[in-house]
Amino acid sequence: MLSQRARALAPSPTMAIDARAKELLSQGVDVVNFSVGEPDFDTPETAKAGGIEAIRSGFTKYTPAAGTLELRRAVAKKLREENGLEYAPEEIVLTNGAKQALYNAYMVLLDPGDEVILQAPYWVSYPEMIRLAGGVPVVVETDESTGFKMTPEMIREKLTPRTKAINLNSPSNPTGAVYTEEELKAIAEIAVERNLVIISDEVYEKLVYDGVRFVSIAALDPEVKRRTVTVNGFSKAYAMTGWRLGYAAAERPIAKAMADLQSQTTSGPSSITQKAALAALQGDQRFLEEMRREFDRRRLYMLERLRSMPGLRVDVVPQGAFYLFPNVSGLFGATIRGRRIASSDDLAMVLLEEAKVAVVPGTGFGAPNYLRFSYATSMERIREGMDRMEALLREAV
Ligand SMILES: Cc1ncc(COP(=O)(O)O)c(C=O)c1O
Repeated sequence: MLSQRARALAPSPTMAIDARAKELLSQGVDVVNFSVGEPDFDTPETAKAGGIEAIRSGFTKYTPAAGTLELRRAVAKKLREENGLEYAPEEIVLTNGAKQALYNAYMVLLDPGDEVILQAPYWVSYPEMIRLAGGVPVVVETDESTGFKMTPEMIREKLTPRTKAINLNSPSNPTGAVYTEEELKAIAEIAVERNLVIISDEVYEKLVYDGVRFVSIAALDPEVKRRTVTVNGFSKAYAMTGWRLGYAAAERPIAKAMADLQSQTTSGPSSITQKAALAALQGDQRFLEEMRREFDRRRLYMLERLRSMPGLRVDVVPQGAFYLFPNVSGLFGATIRGRRIASSDDLAMVLLEEAKVAVVPGTGFGAPNYLRFSYATSMERIREGMDRMEALLREAV
């Protein structure tokens, strides 16, 4: 019955762990959850009030497929003031989460067989979305030696006549790596030289640490901007994952194609959410810095704890997002409570069963030697989870 497309969709390789964690939680087991991909903070009051007001005032009907003009204007202002990017409202498409912005971009840019260069470790959805759109993900393997970043040389090795685009994600999920301006310039040069599109997923831009400055690649120069689709959203910055709002900014023909695609598939995002997002953008922004500082505190604490555990290595300090990505290959071959650890999947399962700590194995991110820890949970829970884990790993033989 199912189409080839559906059959080719890879089920999440983390399903087994996820299903078991949910099962334990539903049985009332006290699981410390380090697998979450969303801020544990509440949506700011300003945004909530905007949403409530939208409902009260009857702003509950279809909006234009690309989203309301007022919110596209507000996003244009944000991009101008915070990112140094000059986009007209017609060059902005509001979407159901950054996910839809990315999917739209691949759908309107890729022909069958077009190759998209992306790095591993990657966010799980990129390869699947690229394939759904008929493209071919071409993976550049990165590790600690380059700080989990693609170098220009690594990209050049993967170029073929079919290369259409370079996919970037800085700050990165799952590694937390942040590209510097110089590094972005070197990548942009390749894109200009080879006439490639750049798809830049910037959803974690607000979460950078150690004095690192976030740079939007499209801001480097007009020639780079012309070929870039900048993707961002409200999920991570404003703790609005459930509201579903993202956006893409690109040259008019690309933005129009994305809006047209959206008009025939999902229509514009929720009218209520758009009002909430507008209020978030126009409201007090102190929330952002408070959240960032708290994440930073947790990052440093968890980093120190993980580094002191046997068999784990965190050689590269993540400077963005809210994840730590230790290399756990030092534990492969060890035995913990009678269970032999041959992979990060095995280790994740043992951590869950024996320590009641849920993490995501690196397999799904194209990085089987690692585990992803999210610190989007309270300091108290982090302490508890680290204690449990450390005690268990000390039993490894
Ligand atoms: C790198 C990255 N891009 C995009 C998204 C999607 O975010 P949204 O909720 O805006 O669809 C996520 C969410 O986990 C992410 O980690």
